[in-house]
Amino acid sequence: MPLQFRTPEIDREPDGEHAVSTLPRPDPDDVSTRPDDLTTAYDGDTCVGHLGSLRSDITVPGDVKLTAAAITQFGVEPSHRRQGVLAGLMTTALRDAHTRGQVLATLSSPLSALHPRFGFGLAADACAVEVDPRAAAPIHRPALGSIDVMSVGEAAHLVPEIYDRCARGRVGTVSRGPSTWARRLRAAPVTLGTEQPSVAFHLDSTGLADGYVQYDITTDADGVSVGVIRDLWGSDSEIERALWEHLVSIDDVSTWRSPRRPADDPVRFAMADVRAYKTRRRFDEQWLRILDIDVALGTRAYNASTRAVTLRVLDPMISANTGTWRIDAYGSFRSQGDADFEIGIETLSAVYLGGTSFQELRDAGRLVERRTDAAADADTLFASRPRPFCGTDA
Ligand SMILES: CC(C)(COP(=O)(O)OP(=O)(O)OC[C@H]1O[C@@H](n2cnc3c(N)ncnc32)[C@H](O)[C@@H]1OP(=O)(O)O)[C@@H](O)C(=O)NCCC(=O)NCCS
Repeated sequence: MPLQFRTPEIDREPDGEHAVSTLPRPDPDDVSTRPDDLTTAYDGDTCVGHLGSLRSDITVPGDVKLTAAAITQFGVEPSHRRQGVLAGLMTTALRDAHTRGQVLATLSSPLSALHPRFGFGLAADACAVEVDPRAAAPIHRPALGSIDVMSVGEAAHLVPEIYDRCARGRVGTVSRGPSTWARRLRAAPVTLGTEQPSVAFHLDSTGLADGYVQYDITTDADGVSVGVIRDLWGSDSEIERALWEHLVSIDDVSTWRSPRRPADDPVRFAMADVRAYKTRRRFDEQWLRILDIDVALGTRAYNASTRAVTLRVLDPMISANTGTWRIDAYGSFRSQGDADFEIGIETLSAVYLGGTSFQELRDAGRLVERRTDAAADADTLFASRPRPFCGTDA
């Protein structure tokens, strides 16, 4: 019997009967693990694979928010692996998301080599960093204002609104729904040596919060304290510098670590010694897939340029995305003309947010220019600075 793939209405199946038995699976009773949509694979009456996704939106250049499916958990029963089940789940889920009107999809998984085959391109990098507070202080020109510190439990009802107001101007950021906030702001039990996780708010002269940092500090048996930054957003870089100033002036913390900072974090240049800020690891943070090219290219903003570029795009999964588009500073429209590039959907998805450059992909042999300087012209139109940064794990 052929396998059956479908995306049922999850609310009609609250007992999670379709979840795969031997894999970490979405728990319908736990809001922090519950996906908004769940695609399943059946072999007869047996569920042999699933793939969850969250309904989200992503900021794209021009401060436009586009609807997106954030792929979260997927798994296939060991008995059915390497038989095309994941490929079927992904194809079904992405086509269903496209039919629902979602314009983009995102994916984060350790199997990064598989992402391009499903049309995802690497749109943003992030870095795990370590900061020596003694060498970093004082931070150059922090915003004026005051700092108010609370426990995560006390701050939980305030943080989501400030994130929406202060963080979402950054290209690549995603909306965080109840399941994401439940995971991030869960009041963690305090273990020996760990201080209550805290949130420090930056308040402007009127008392309005315009940024926050969520962190926790652990002290080992030798009395050495290490702080971990979980989330740091300000409505501008001056406010983020004030939040860093608060962190580096907390007594006795020998090192600050953050598992996820933008690859172009400007605070490094605001530190008394730039070597106070060390990049420990650079990683592929945001894999993006365009589901609807007409909307995606037609809604984002482009930089001023006198040269247009023409892209021929191939998408074997969503046929409406195969075609030719002409893009100039004023927007994009379908074209019948000769193309400057012929690219797969994964390549367009990689460059779409303006972080990954056409010239880099050309120099990696991933993109062939059919006109001299076409990649440079495309970068002029598409580039977005600061670089795209998501800042949220799925
Ligand atoms: C990873 C996993 C979902 C793949 O499912 P699957 O149904 O076996 O994958 P498919 O058969 O559809 O394979 C699609 C392609 O990916 C390749 N592939 C599958 N698993 C792979 C792996 N672990 N490493 C590298 N390539 C892999 C296949 O060879 C196939 O490529 P091909 O078309 O060129 O042959 C499955 O092995 C699994 O559930 N693993 C445990 C849970 C997990 O790791 N989840 C992902 C993180 S959330």
